[in-house]
Amino acid sequence: MKRWFLRILGGLVVVLALAALSVYVLSERRLARTYKVPQDEVAIPTDEEGIARGAYLATSISNCRDCHGKDLSGGIMVDDGALGRISAPNLTTGEGGIGEHLENDDLVRAIRYGVAADGTALKIMPADDFNSLSDEDLGAIIAYVRSVPPVDELQPSFVLRPLGRTLVALGQLEIFPVERIDLAAPRPKTLKPEVSKVYGKYLAQIAGCTGCHGPGLSGGQIPGAPPDFPQAANLTPSGDVGDWRFQDFLSTIRSGKNPKGHSLAEEMPWRNFAGMSDQELRAIWLFVASVPAREAGTR
Ligand code: HEC
Ligand code: HEC
Repeated sequence: MKRWFLRILGGLVVVLALAALSVYVLSERRLARTYKVPQDEVAIPTDEEGIARGAYLATSISNCRDCHGKDLSGGIMVDDGALGRISAPNLTTGEGGIGEHLENDDLVRAIRYGVAADGTALKIMPADDFNSLSDEDLGAIIAYVRSVPPVDELQPSFVLRPLGRTLVALGQLEIFPVERIDLAAPRPKTLKPEVSKVYGKYLAQIAGCTGCHGPGLSGGQIPGAPPDFPQAANLTPSGDVGDWRFQDFLSTIRSGKNPKGHSLAEEMPWRNFAGMSDQELRAIWLFVASVPAREAGTR
C-alpha cells in the first residue's frame, strides 16, 4: 500500500516537473522569437521647433511620460508576484539609460514597430498605437527623446513569474504589441493638422484612444493591462457618450469630470489630453462621433 502511494507520488512529481519544464521552454522560445521589420528612413529634426513639437507629442498626446517618467528616466510598470515584473527603461543618456546605446534607427524600430535591436518583441510598449505616427511626428518625438538631460537611473530588469510564464507559453498574455501591427501597411510622411475626421482618427490612434478603447471604440478589458486596470468606457453611440455634444466631450477631457459628475479614473490620461488644442479635440470628436454603435467590450 505504502509503496503504491510513493510510486504515484513519484509519478506526479515527474509529471509536474515535465510540465514546468515545457512551460519554461515554450515561454523562452516565445520571448526569443524575432521579427523582420521595414527599415524606414526618418529624418530627425535638430531645430527648436522640431524638438518642441516632439515634447508636445510625447507629453500631451502619446503619453510617453506616463510610463517612462516625466524626465524619461523610466519606472516600474507592473510588479506582480504571480505574473512578473516589467519596467519602462530610462531613455536618457545617463548611467543606466539606453540613450547612449541606441541609434536613431533603433528608436524608429522600437517606437514604430515594437521591436528591439536584436529583433525580439518589446513587451507592453504600445508601438501598435505609435505605428501610425507620420515620419515627421516620429522624427520629432525622437528629437525630443535625444534632447532630454541625462539622468542616472537603472530600472530593474524584466522577470516572468510562473503564472506569467504559463500564460505566455499558452499564448494567452497579450504583451507583444508587434503582433497587432500590420508591418506592411504604408505610413504617412506628414499629415496636415486640420479639423477633420481623418486627422481626428490619426490623433486617436497615436494618443492610444483606439489602443485602450478598442479599434471600434466600444471599450472593455484593455489587452495586456494589469488585472486591476479599470475597463475602458464605450465611446460609441450605444455608450454613455451617445447623447454628448462636442462641449460635453471638451469639458470632460479638460476637467476629468463627465457631464454626470463622475471623476474619470486616473488610468484614463485626460490630464495629458487636456493639453491638446480645441482644434485637435474637435478633430478627435469628429472621429469618435462618426463610429457606429457597438455593444460594450466588443472592441
Ligand atoms: C504603456 C506604457 C508605455 C508608453 C505609453 C510608452 N512606453 Fe516605451 N516602453 C515601455 C516598456 C514597458 C518598455 C520596455 C519593453 C521591454 O523591455 O520589452 C518600453 C521601451 C521603450 C524603448 C526601448 C526600446 C529598446 O530597444 O530597448 C523606447 C525607445 C521607448 N520605449 C520609447 C517610447 C516613446 C518615445 C514613447 C512615446 C511615444 C513610449 N515609449 C511610450 C512602456 C511604454
Ligand atoms: C490608457 C488607456 C486609455 C487611453 C489611452 C484613453 N482612454 Fe479614455 N478611458 C479609459 C478608461 C479606463 C476610462 C474609464 C474611466 C472611468 O470610468 O472612470 C476612460 C474613459 C473615457 C471617457 C469618459 C466616458 C464616459 O462615459 O464618461 C472618454 C470621453 C474617453 N475615455 C475618451 C478618450 C479619448 C478621446 C482618448 C484618446 C485621446 C482616450 N480616451 C484614451 C482609458 C483610456
